Amino acid sequence: ASGDLTRRKLMPALYHLHQAGQLPEPFQIIGVARRPYSDGDWRQELLAALRQHGRPPLPSEESWNQFAQRVFYCQGDLSDPATYARLASQIQSAQPPELRHHLLYYLATRPSQFGEVVERLHAQNLLYPAPAQGWQRVVIEKPFGHDLASARALNQVLARHVSEDQIFRIDHYLGKETVQNILMFRFSNAVFERLWNRDAIDHVQITVSETAGVGDRAGYYEEAGALRDMLQNHLLQVLALVTMEPPVSLEAEAIRDEKVKLLRCVRRYPPEEAQRHVVRGQYTAGTVEGRPVAAYRQEPRIQPDSSVETYVAARLYLDNWRWSGVPFYLRTGKRLPRTVSEVRIQFRPTPHVLFAALCSPTPAANAVTLRLQPREGISLRFNGKVPGLDLRSRPVRMHFDYNAEFGAYTPEAYERLLRDALAGDATLFLRRDEIETAWAIADGLRAAWTGQPLRPDEFYPAGCWGPPAADALISATGHAWHEPLLLP
Ligand code: BG6
Repeated sequence: ASGDLTRRKLMPALYHLHQAGQLPEPFQIIGVARRPYSDGDWRQELLAALRQHGRPPLPSEESWNQFAQRVFYCQGDLSDPATYARLASQIQSAQPPELRHHLLYYLATRPSQFGEVVERLHAQNLLYPAPAQGWQRVVIEKPFGHDLASARALNQVLARHVSEDQIFRIDHYLGKETVQNILMFRFSNAVFERLWNRDAIDHVQITVSETAGVGDRAGYYEEAGALRDMLQNHLLQVLALVTMEPPVSLEAEAIRDEKVKLLRCVRRYPPEEAQRHVVRGQYTAGTVEGRPVAAYRQEPRIQPDSSVETYVAARLYLDNWRWSGVPFYLRTGKRLPRTVSEVRIQFRPTPHVLFAALCSPTPAANAVTLRLQPREGISLRFNGKVPGLDLRSRPVRMHFDYNAEFGAYTPEAYERLLRDALAGDATLFLRRDEIETAWAIADGLRAAWTGQPLRPDEFYPAGCWGPPAADALISATGHAWHEPLLLP
C-alpha cells in the first residue's frame, strides 16, 4: 500500500475506473503495508498522490469521498502470519457478504516476496485453486523472476496454491492502447497483412528509448539491467504482437498460443555466437534535454565500477516460414535523446530502379512506423514527386494521429489491466509458458557478456543514441538505426 507503484499508478487507475463506472459494484479496496496508518491517513496520502499523478480533471471532494469510503488499510509485515490473520478478519467482516468471496490480490510487493505472500494467503485460507464460492485471483507485478530458473521456481510455488487461470502476470506494455492497436492494425486491414512477411519486408526496428536515468531504483537496477528490465518483457511482447500469426479467435488462449509459438521461433544463439548479435551499453556523463546529467556509475547507490547495462541492442531472427531471413533489431536504453517507443517496418526497395538514374536523391524504400508513445499514431512513408520541371523525389508521409482522430482520452495501461483482471480476462497477461520462453531468450542473449567488464566501445555519453558497438552491430548486416520520427 505504501509503494510508489500504488501511489502513482494503481490507485489513480482504480479511482478513474470508479469514475467511469467500470468497477464492479459493490467493491472494497484493502491496502497492506507496514506503516502505522489509519484508514484516514492512507486515504489522505492517496488523495495527494491522485492530485499529482491522476489524469485531469482533478477529483472533486464529492467524487473522492464516494471512492475513499471504500478504501481501507491493514497494517502489517508481509512475512508475519499475524498480518494475514488481520487481513482475513477484515475480509470476513466486509459488507455485503458477497465481497468476501470475490477477491483479487494485487502483489505490488518486493519480487522476492511474491511466492511467500501466495503461500501465506493460502495458509490463511484466503487463496485456493478452486474456491467453493465466487473467485480468487492474484496479479503478479514484474519482475517475474530474474532468469529462466528463478521464473520456473516461482511458477512452481504459485502452481502449488493456485491454478494457472487464477494467475495474472503483468506486463504493463500490453495495457497500452497503441500496443493493443497493433493487432487491430494487422488483422483488420487486408492491405498491410498481405505484405507482412519476408517477401516484402527488409527488416524491422523496435526502439524503446527513455531520457530518464536509473532514478531512485539503483538497488533494483543493479540486479536487473536493461536486458532484464525492458527487453525480456516489453520489447519481446511488442515483437510477438508485430510478428505472430493470426490467432484463431480473440480468446485469451488463442492469442497467447500465437505469441508463445512466435517466441519459440526466436533463434537461440550458442554462447560463443551471442556476442555478434547483441550488445550492451552504459551511459557516461552527458547532456539530456539541455541538462547536464551524471554518469551511471556516479548515480547514488550504484557501484563505481558497475558493468550493468543501461542500454541493450540485439539482432534477432525468427526461424519460421513467414520471417525467414528478416533481421529484427531491438534496442532500448536510458539517458537517450528522447523518450519514444516505436516499431519501424522497413519494406524492400522497388525491384527495378526506374527513377534512380534520374532522381536525386534515389527514392527511399517504403516504411510503416507504429508510434506507440508519445504522440501515438501510424505513419506510412512513400516517395512523392517534388513539384517542378526537374524529376526530383522526396519521401513524404501519411500520418494517422490517435489524439487528432479520437481525442486525447486514452486510458492508462493500468486502468485497462485492472479492469480486465477484475473481469477475469487474461488476454493481456502473460501465461506461464510465455514468460518462461521469454526468459530463455533473454538468458541466451545475456551470455554475450556474462562475467565480462564493459569494453570502451560499450559506453555512450548520456544524450546520444547508444554506444558505438550498437552501430557496428547493425551495420554488420548492411543497415543503420533510424532516428525515431520527429512529429510536428
Ligand atoms: C518499466 C521499467 O517496466 O517500464 C522501467 O522497469 C521503465 O525501467 C518503464 O522506465 C517504462 O514504461 P513506460 O510506460 O514509461 O514506457
